Amino acid sequence: MILAMKIGTPLTPHATRVMLLGSGELGKEVIIALQRLGVEVIAVDRYKNAPGHQVAHRSHVIDMTDSQALLKLVKSEKPHYIVPEIEAINTDVLAQIEKSGDAIVIPTVKAVQLTMNREGIRDLAANQLKLPTSPFAFAKSLEELQKAIDSGIGYPCFVKPTMSSSGKGQSRITEASKVKDAWDYAASAGRVNKGVVIVEGQIDFDYEITLLTVRAKNEKGDIETYFCEPIGHKQEQGDYVESWQPQPMHEVALTKAREIAKKITDALGGLGLFGVELFVKNDQVWFSEVSPRPHDTGMVTMASQRQNEFELHARAILGLPVNTSLNRPSASAVIYGNYDADGILFENIDKALTVPESDLRLFGKPTSFKRRRMGIALASADNVDEARSRAQKVSSLIKTSI
Ligand SMILES: Nc1ncnc2c1ncn2[C@@H]1O[C@H](COP(=O)(O)OP(=O)(O)OP(=O)(O)O)[C@@H](O)[C@H]1O
Ligand SMILES: [Mg+2]
Repeated sequence: MILAMKIGTPLTPHATRVMLLGSGELGKEVIIALQRLGVEVIAVDRYKNAPGHQVAHRSHVIDMTDSQALLKLVKSEKPHYIVPEIEAINTDVLAQIEKSGDAIVIPTVKAVQLTMNREGIRDLAANQLKLPTSPFAFAKSLEELQKAIDSGIGYPCFVKPTMSSSGKGQSRITEASKVKDAWDYAASAGRVNKGVVIVEGQIDFDYEITLLTVRAKNEKGDIETYFCEPIGHKQEQGDYVESWQPQPMHEVALTKAREIAKKITDALGGLGLFGVELFVKNDQVWFSEVSPRPHDTGMVTMASQRQNEFELHARAILGLPVNTSLNRPSASAVIYGNYDADGILFENIDKALTVPESDLRLFGKPTSFKRRRMGIALASADNVDEARSRAQKVSSLIKTSI
């Protein structure tokens, strides 16, 4: 195993090799950050020409839930670091690799295992660490779900598969007549259908944030926790449509948010960046969930920060120092495919980018769906409101076609 402080030359026997498991738009940016530091990067995804495949040294298409396929690939590529970008990964294989010491799993296998299942992370956050969360219960049948709602969770509530992301299989229900639909939807859309759902009481928050939290080495070589400025965001159907930084916060709430983020990331351990999702009302803060990796709402940092969330992740992984400072208030706005088609076109970009201090990322996804995130608009300004309207303007000016 090489020392973290040394980086070899890519494509030589001394290369520092990182394998990304999942190579979507977030993985793509992590790869670019690693490439800039002269790291050899291997991108893995379940389909050909994924965004990260297009910028890596080598790419592979495998089913990452298949233990044999994953193990075989890791043995042949011999990465020093394995960086999961998605949740649908065979974690038994990761545990085996971590135990053997052949590669470091980022941030830790424990973190990857706990966060891929809402049962694991809720148990850690609410029961063990006693962090404030929404009231919740797990249900293995429609009857159990109804019972949990009736015996305390109440309405409105959110029903979610225990294994899912981006709002898949998730519904908000306000009355008993909708419980069956919510159960059926969660059971059909869960990533790995374990037949378990979580039901959460609704938190009546003023706003929600992602607190990007970095565990990185300081100048003494000890692990220290660093926080980015809070990121505010807007969700539609459980998926983010707009984010901005900094989200103004009551000082007490900010302190609480950092305490919660510190506790949960300490418990997950390892090196890297985490996206801690929190709900805020006045000076009250609730923990919602955490990603042990860059967060979609954190794409705004490509415009706002000195080191964006992907660079922070790359640096932290390699044991390098980080700087989480904000450069300029900024915002991001999602660009959807609007068509179910392969190889779509993006138009009017020349007009869109005349918006002051604006920028654009098109992810290069080969297949578009109407509600698939295909790119994002970015913009900065003197204040967040102006940055948001600029980013939205860029996004609305860009047209897709087939
Ligand atoms: N208990 C709750 N109270 C209030 N709002 C909630 C609650 N649970 C979820 N939401 C809303 O739904 C959004 C998505 O929920 P959650 O983050 O749990 O789903 P997800 O599928 O993991 O989404 P993603 O992967 O995009 O983070 C939240 O950001 C919030 O806006
Ligand atoms: Mg979420």
